[in-house]
Amino acid sequence: MDHVLKAPWLRYPQPIEEQAAEFILEFDAPTDVTGAILQCSALGVYYAQLNGSKVGDQVLAPGWTNYRKRLQYETYDVLSLIKEGKNVLSIEVAKGWRMHAREKDWIQPGFSQKEIALIACIVLTDAEGKETVIDKKDKWKCRESKTRFANLYDGEVYDPQYRFARPGASDFLQPSELKLPHEILIPRQGEKIKEIEELPAKAILKTPNGETIIDFGQNISGYVRFRIRGGDRAPAILLHAETLDAAGNFYTKNLRSAQQRITFIPDGAEHTYQPKFTWQGFRYVQPLHWPCELRLEDFTAVAVHSDLKRTGHFACSEPDLNRLYENIVWSMRDNYLDVPTDCPQRDERLGWTGDAQVFVRTATYIYDVERFFDKWLADLASEQFADGGIPHVIPRIFWDGDSSCGWADAAVVCPWRMYLTYGNKSILVKQYNSMQGWIDYMRRRTKDGLWVGGGHFGDWLNLDGPEGTSSGGATPHLLLQNAFFAYSTSLFIQAGDVLGLDMAEYEASLDALKTAYQKEFIADGICTVPTQTACALTLYFGLAGADRESIAAQLAGLVRECGHLKTGFLGTPYLLHALSDNGYADLAYDLLLHKDFPGWLYPLSRGATTMWEHWDGLKPDGTMWSDGMNSFNHYAYGAVYDWMFSTMCGIREQADAPGFKHIVFAPISDNRISYAEASLETRQGLVSSRWERQTDGTVLYTFQVPPGTAAEALLAGKLLPLKAGTNTFTA
Ligand code: BGC
Repeated sequence: MDHVLKAPWLRYPQPIEEQAAEFILEFDAPTDVTGAILQCSALGVYYAQLNGSKVGDQVLAPGWTNYRKRLQYETYDVLSLIKEGKNVLSIEVAKGWRMHAREKDWIQPGFSQKEIALIACIVLTDAEGKETVIDKKDKWKCRESKTRFANLYDGEVYDPQYRFARPGASDFLQPSELKLPHEILIPRQGEKIKEIEELPAKAILKTPNGETIIDFGQNISGYVRFRIRGGDRAPAILLHAETLDAAGNFYTKNLRSAQQRITFIPDGAEHTYQPKFTWQGFRYVQPLHWPCELRLEDFTAVAVHSDLKRTGHFACSEPDLNRLYENIVWSMRDNYLDVPTDCPQRDERLGWTGDAQVFVRTATYIYDVERFFDKWLADLASEQFADGGIPHVIPRIFWDGDSSCGWADAAVVCPWRMYLTYGNKSILVKQYNSMQGWIDYMRRRTKDGLWVGGGHFGDWLNLDGPEGTSSGGATPHLLLQNAFFAYSTSLFIQAGDVLGLDMAEYEASLDALKTAYQKEFIADGICTVPTQTACALTLYFGLAGADRESIAAQLAGLVRECGHLKTGFLGTPYLLHALSDNGYADLAYDLLLHKDFPGWLYPLSRGATTMWEHWDGLKPDGTMWSDGMNSFNHYAYGAVYDWMFSTMCGIREQADAPGFKHIVFAPISDNRISYAEASLETRQGLVSSRWERQTDGTVLYTFQVPPGTAAEALLAGKLLPLKAGTNTFTA
């Protein structure tokens, strides 16, 4: 059935700098055709049309994997596009993510990053069920595409008249055959990347600098579909930005080298255009040299990302928390574009392991991400170094050095989270060796029980380091790396237990690690590193031993003393949990509801529609943290939603029966909020929790338990059994 596995690899016969190439196949279809499929993939990103109609509903196919070992192909049913007689299949290919390929990573010597390749076949079935496979190299021809420039970061240049404007440009070439391995081909493993939502243009604005810009009202990843008329080949340009500066001017410095520029060469006629081989991170666009009047109705923003099923919802009486939640959802959408990326706009857009690890729990409470992570974790395992180290970004494009704590732990934290949320052991089976590789990497580097050395990003973007630093901060790497070492080891042991393996060796090393950690970092009942992150990790990762109460009091003291959070990427996801798990839920709520700088709600006062990379991306005085590394669409701090779901609304899946087969509802309400509710469509069915303050001061709790699910509610210190269906309590 998978005929593409036998098709020849077709190489565009000339070097590809930045343009796209078009491969064309003409074939005849018999009158009695009863089935027609196209199977294809590319080393590059492709866009297929049959008889002038787009094939399939995906964009940016075949997505991004570790192409050296894993390249996804797709099977499209194209029967409805087939015509009797002559048919024309056109597949344009641009470099896409292959722009990242380094020489030593070329799939085979001689096939350089400057080249692209296509593999495709058409399979027709006639009335008798006989299949005809059309895939021979000689049937194909190719030529340059009208897309004259295509770069993921920099955008596109499209010239509808290219073939007329340049003599010889419509001449066809013969693709050559490439001897690339077919073993790298796999059926699509992840979700499709699709156009998910269209947002109309909201306003045309004039900035103080005199720029005319269009505001779509929401920071998204995707592109603009526009209608354009008139013009006489003077390039019309669309620039993209995610924010305005303090003065209200169009601001692109934080894109760094990414141009995010779409250029259309107008030819007098009316065209509707949208890019095919790139996406932008933006809320605003600036049209330059536009040949026609700017009309809102001619511009539509198209949100593009992985087509995940929405499973989770949240609402409460505090509008700011609802907006925070929307911003978290948007940053997840904007960054779950085939791989979990750090940001969708500047010259990175990479599968940073740390960001993925920090946010993964929250992600599972908003969308069904099982398949998405199944694919990404397979890439992670395929990119893992022989010594068990984990590259910083997956797919790997750089850095073969040390693996960083909190980043590399994605290898353990993410599969374990998939297992907890979806209850499917197979992810643990598939990732077990990778998990073990990472744990052993750390074990091999211990001295006196502690993992020492290495290069780490630290409590990235914290607020307790000197102004303007990123990875410094007051929490030493030695503490962070050993806290995560212990955490990942404990998850790995649980994974081994699930698989029925003997984990005694790892249990012994975890015991030794805990003892060494406590000796090094706890004295007189408190953490010798007096930072919010150090205390939060020590508590949440079960490292406080007998000093739990006093360290919790220490954390509470640190929070009260400064009145706000100071944690970075590594401490933030656990801060509220560490407080509320230890009797300081009121303080956790103080931090969550804190409206001024710094805190989760502060960016809302600055009009944020997505999560910011930095707490101080835009400071209260209107200045930016920096131009260089200042994304307004990074989801890491959005990890706070796992607390809102599991503590504020109290829905807690249990490891003894994962996949929400056993749930404990343990909501903690707060006087400042009159109601809160969260729901999740789980593998068991719909789970929801709601509490609402009544006029008499009591709280009404409503829990929805799916059939076949064991559930209890923990209210006022009592564990109450729940039945399937709706359960209500007043307390
Ligand atoms: C990325 C991060 C990433 C970090 C490594 C940044 O440039 O945007 O989110 O985790 O580098 O510390």
